Amino acid sequence: MSATPDPSRFDDEVSRKQGSRISRMFDRIAPTYDLLNHLLSANIDVRWRRKAAADLKFTGEERLLDLCCGTGDLAMAMKDAGAGTVVATDFSPEMVRHARQKAGDRIDFQVADTTDLPFADASFDVATVGFGVRNLEDLDAGFREAQRVLKPGGRLMILEFSRPPNAAFRGLYHTYFMIVLPMIGNLVSGGADNAYTYLPRSVMAFPGPEALADRLRAAGFAHVDIESLTYGIACIHTATK
Ligand SMILES: C[S@@+](CC[C@H](N)C(=O)[O-])C[C@H]1O[C@@H](n2cnc3c(N)ncnc32)[C@H](O)[C@@H]1O
Repeated sequence: MSATPDPSRFDDEVSRKQGSRISRMFDRIAPTYDLLNHLLSANIDVRWRRKAAADLKFTGEERLLDLCCGTGDLAMAMKDAGAGTVVATDFSPEMVRHARQKAGDRIDFQVADTTDLPFADASFDVATVGFGVRNLEDLDAGFREAQRVLKPGGRLMILEFSRPPNAAFRGLYHTYFMIVLPMIGNLVSGGADNAYTYLPRSVMAFPGPEALADRLRAAGFAHVDIESLTYGIACIHTATK
């Protein structure tokens, strides 16, 4: 018998221990996740990830951790923008499997829960999260872990959906987001757990940009900055440990 551990078995064990209804939902939508992301956002998501990465102005020396990495698009954007070493984690083994297939060994993908990270204190220069914090069952625990694994002076960048502030635009956007998007999303993903009904609900239930900034400050981050993207459909928060 081989002494080499089977990585997929390890991934499943981590997921079983730390997993939840949410990780199983993401496991099920993993095969259609990229297609739907690009389709439902008319590819704007690609521009947002590139912008978030460019804003970080990498020197090539950074050790970066991408949390809730999904199929790896934000981690790959970070690498393409010049980040040094990129480690990326997600608690859905299926998402991680797809990410590994896409990115190969340019990025170290691992199955891990953002609220209980397997890394030493002060071991990263930058932490990033793309469309992930909204899904955390315990947001403050996620922020505490990001804070713990960052070096003093380390930077956190969060790219997340938001609610557009302009009332007229918000009306139009809500019709698309609450009605059209769930219909297409649930159809294409085979209706897995009604994940695309969960998506708009989770955005509506999530704290607005200012409230999120307050939560970051409460978790010990300083210099919290908010940048609005595409009429406020999404926001970039940056903060420093
Ligand atoms: C909407 S996807 C975003 C994926 C990717 N970052 C992107 O930019 O497309 C959210 C991801 O967060 C992951 N996630 C949610 N809660 C998590 C947790 N506690 N620990 C690790 N991953 C988590 C899900 O498995 C899912 O892959």
